[in-house]
Amino acid sequence: GKVAVLYGGVSAEREVSIKSGTMVHAALMAQGIDAHLFDTQDKSVFDLKTEGFDRAFIALHGRFGEDGTLQGALELLGIPYTGSGVLASALAMNKVRTKQVWLQSGLATPLYRVLPRGADVDAVTDEIVAELGLPMFVKPPHEGSSLGAGKVNSANELKAACELAWRYDTHALIEQCIEGRELTCAVLGSGVDTLSLPIVEIKAPSGDYNFHNKYNGNDTVYDCPAQVSPELTIEIQRMISDAYRALGCSGWGRGDVLLRTSDNKPYLLEMNTSPGMTDHSLVPMAARTFGISYEELVVRILCDARL
Ligand code: DAL
Ligand code: MG
Repeated sequence: GKVAVLYGGVSAEREVSIKSGTMVHAALMAQGIDAHLFDTQDKSVFDLKTEGFDRAFIALHGRFGEDGTLQGALELLGIPYTGSGVLASALAMNKVRTKQVWLQSGLATPLYRVLPRGADVDAVTDEIVAELGLPMFVKPPHEGSSLGAGKVNSANELKAACELAWRYDTHALIEQCIEGRELTCAVLGSGVDTLSLPIVEIKAPSGDYNFHNKYNGNDTVYDCPAQVSPELTIEIQRMISDAYRALGCSGWGRGDVLLRTSDNKPYLLEMNTSPGMTDHSLVPMAARTFGISYEELVVRILCDARL
């Protein structure tokens, strides 16, 4: 059949998606699959059917690609697509809703507060600092790749951090900062039949794994497999696959955790339902360590496409 690699799009992560999609497309073509790049910024997904596509590989990140809206359109069109369905995509795109589901499921995630755009930050700063401690992280709940996110080291920086997050979103998520190691783990498959790939540890310069370090820098060191004990590896892999299932994810995804230094306790940060597939990206890295090539990985994800 004819496969559309949906990429580009209109989210703040467009540039990342262009890299992901271009690489996914090349890999599918190299495997003899009739794949075509389809930029959802320029073309309407509602034309996929009339253009003869019968499957979609979603290589979009962020809004209108990873957040359930596109998935809903593909459901209506009857075109099987890669990754999670409507509800899991929408939940995972919202870091606040994600945390609520995880807490309800007994899964650890850093303490947090949410402030709507325009809230009087000065009036609640003392209270929030007392509750979450310093430093804290401020993030727009619906963004990826650290866009609009910032670390707050002192109380007087909170307001500016919220204002930055509000440029991207209607709310600011303020999160307790867990001092620890940054780990990520990919999950492939669905339901009881999931496979956890090796854990990757991210060692960013000065501990700041920001947009630049994610895609452009070469100073970030990645350890794969991460140097953690076999017992802890299994605990973290299980936690991330539980987190994936709690949200109802399917196909593939990547969960990010912080492993607290003081007691080796993992805390879930977020689930990415359409993770980066660039040459700097972590799922391809983990797959390679496991013995799955980039080409094999994309074919496997495509074969899991469904409605
Ligand atoms: N949001 C980026 C693409 C990732 O999680 O890989
Ligand atoms: Mg993300």
